This record gives sequence, structure tokens and C-alpha cells, in this order.
Amino acid sequence: MNRFDNYFTYKDDQLYCENVKIRDLAKEFGTPLYVYSSRGFKERYYEIDAALVGIEHLICYSIKTNFNMAIIRLMASLGSGADVVSGGELYRALKGGIPPKKIVFAGVGKTREEIEYAIDSDILMFNCESIQEIDAIEEISAKKGKITSIAIRINPDIDPETHHYITTGKKENKFGITVRHLLEFLPRLRDFRHVRFRGIHGHIGSQICSVEPYVKTLDKFVSLIDELKSNGWGDIEFVNMGGGMGIVYNEETPFNLQLWGKEIVSRLTSRGLKLIVEPGRYISGNSGIFVVQVIYRKEGETKTFLITDGGMNDLIRPALYGSYQKIFNCERREGSEIVDVVGPVCESGDFFAKDREISTTLQGDYLSVMSAGAYCMAMASHYNSRRLPAEVLITEESEVRLIRRRDRWEDLLRNEEL
Ligand code: LLP
Repeated sequence: MNRFDNYFTYKDDQLYCENVKIRDLAKEFGTPLYVYSSRGFKERYYEIDAALVGIEHLICYSIKTNFNMAIIRLMASLGSGADVVSGGELYRALKGGIPPKKIVFAGVGKTREEIEYAIDSDILMFNCESIQEIDAIEEISAKKGKITSIAIRINPDIDPETHHYITTGKKENKFGITVRHLLEFLPRLRDFRHVRFRGIHGHIGSQICSVEPYVKTLDKFVSLIDELKSNGWGDIEFVNMGGGMGIVYNEETPFNLQLWGKEIVSRLTSRGLKLIVEPGRYISGNSGIFVVQVIYRKEGETKTFLITDGGMNDLIRPALYGSYQKIFNCERREGSEIVDVVGPVCESGDFFAKDREISTTLQGDYLSVMSAGAYCMAMASHYNSRRLPAEVLITEESEVRLIRRRDRWEDLLRNEEL
């Protein structure tokens, strides 16, 4: 274990979160089950906050990573803002008590309905991804007689050296506007009366483990801002550096956050700019685990399969990206073995680990898929008409809170019985 997954630790060979035995939770609430540590969310948030001392900043927790309402309320209580990418996320953020003036709205395909909803809610700003979108915001704002703040997402064409599915700032990606297109558009933007261009936004990818791509991006941004300011765009006061900070799933060595903060802060303070960041995974990723029960231990011709009651519909990252998440037995046993940990879904891609060495496991044991706080429950589906899992949150005082009950059978039909 290292400092990145210390919210879930073994005591006497039993996995715990605070003073709560994970096995007891599995028995009480059933499996599959997501378990979150509120200490994890808090510590990570404060760590980012501390790394950014010296600059006026706003941390907008990226709701897409984990949008349970209890988590959003927890983030709101810390003073966090929110990065939202849909009307649904905006709805959750507002219901969860995030002040509208701490909400930024990103995404390449905002509909008119979503734009109207966000303008009516008085959010801080849109992170705009195309000129067509800015046209739509101008038109809708004009109709409402409002002035809407925007940041423009620049595609810096920087390689963050991460999984190609989660790279977002290269020129072949659909995100953002190139500097050339922005400069061509500016004369037209000058005539817009209902849009206020206040910031530059950039999100270059996720699970980034080196500071360098941030520095390169920021250097591009500050020279662009210098140029814009000298051409009369004095309203630009925000730089949004996106999210993307990497965490440990296996053997990664994420960068030191203090160093990252220093590089960013030094480049912005001299220019009097304010900073927005939109971290998701860094806050939620290691703050959660996914607990499943081994229903069957099946000896195949060449492999041993641990067939669990959790599937790819509950946690799809290994199936979708081939991602690695550690797997621990909630009750550590003597010896180890090499197994495939799979789910019950009717797809060969339904696995959590292949050829993985884990501690010897018996039928009925509970396994924990680690680092499951980000992009796990958030990407769950009802595939195979499986009910979505329950979620519990463990407080620092070891209080156990059920924050989502498991779907009931009738929940599966809820929207079809018209
Ligand atoms: N801001 C924007 C504009 C984003 O697109 C994202 C993530 C974030 C912030 C938060 O990034 P983070 O701090 O979490 O890296 N499902 C994939 C990751 C997709 C990332 C999408 N964008 C996974 O499971 O690895």
C-alpha cells in the first residue's frame, strides 16, 4: 500500500475503511457494493487547494467521475465548485448545494435546452468548444436579455502521454478550438453583445502522470493571453487548466502536486490571472472500492475463474480500456494463485482481471476492486437487466451511510410502464 490507497487498509488480514470491516458491510448491504471514504474525498480536495496557495483559484470537482448526491453535498461542504458536462450534471450540482457561481459547464454538444437551463441558473461560465456553440449562446442570451460569461477551450495539440481513449488535447480530438480558428473568429466575437469572453480553458487528458504536458499547455495559453490582451481583450481573467492529474492504480508514479502547483501558480500570478481547475479522478479515484462476492470458483481447462456477482455493467473500465485495478480479498488468506476474475454478464469482455495473482480465494469470499471511486459507478449501466449496485459512504468517525440503495426489480421497469 502507498499513500494513494491508504483509505482502505488491512488490519489483521481484514480489509477496513476507518474502523469498519468491509466484510461486514458486504454482509449487511449485500454485493455488489461501492464503498467510499469521505476522508479520501476531503484529503484530496485539500491537497489540491494547498498546492495552489498564492493564487486566487476555484476547484471545480468534476462531477462526471462520481455523481452520487451525497458526494456532491460533501464536495459542496468543502467549498468546492463543480465542472458539469450535461443538464443532468448541472441539475445534480445545484440540488447538491454547489453555488451556481462556482459551476462551469463544458462539453462539445451542449443543446439549446441545456444552454438555457445554465443561463437561467446563473452559472459562472460556459467552457465553449466550438464557434457554433458561441453563436448559440449569444443568440439565446440576447433573447433573454442577459450577458453570459464564457471561456474558450483551446485545443493545444499536446500529447499528455496517457491512454489514447482519454487524451483530449490533440488536434485529432473533437475537443476545443484551435488557436488559428480562434484568431479568425475574434473580429466577429467583438460584435457580440451578450457574450463576455473571460477565460481560456484547456483539458488535455486524464490520468496524466507528468507535469510537463501541463507546463507546455500553460506556456501556450499565457502567450496567447498576452497577445489577446494587447489586442483589446482585457476581460480575460481566468485560466482553466482542466483536470487530469493521475493516481495510482498499479505501479504508476504520479507527479508531485506541490510541484505542479508551483509551475502553474508562478506563470499566472505575474499576469494577475485567476485559476480554475476541474479535477475528478484525483479526488474520487482512490476514495472508493467496489466489493463483489465470489459466487463460483470454476476450474477451466487452462485457468481458474472466480465468477463474481459484480459485472462489467457495474464497473466497465477493465473491459472498456483494458485498465488495471488492483483486486484484494477482503479477508487475506495464506498463499496466492493466478486467476481470472470475471462477472456474470454474457460477454467474454466481462472481466475485472486476467491472469492475476491474488491471495487464495474460496467460493463465498468477498473481493475488493480497488481505486473504484472514479468512472466506475458513474459509468454503470443496466446491461443484462442487472440492477445498479448500492453505495455506502464511511465517515472519518466510522459512521456508515447508505447513500444509494440497490435497485429493486421494479426500478428496472420504472420508465417503461407508461
Ligand atoms: N474536465 C474535462 C473537460 C474533462 O473532459 C474531464 C474528464 C475532467 C475535467 C476530469 O478529468 P480527471 O481529473 O478525472 O482526469 N472514463 C475514463 C476517463 C474519461 C475522462 C473524461 N474527461 C476513465 O475511466 O479513465
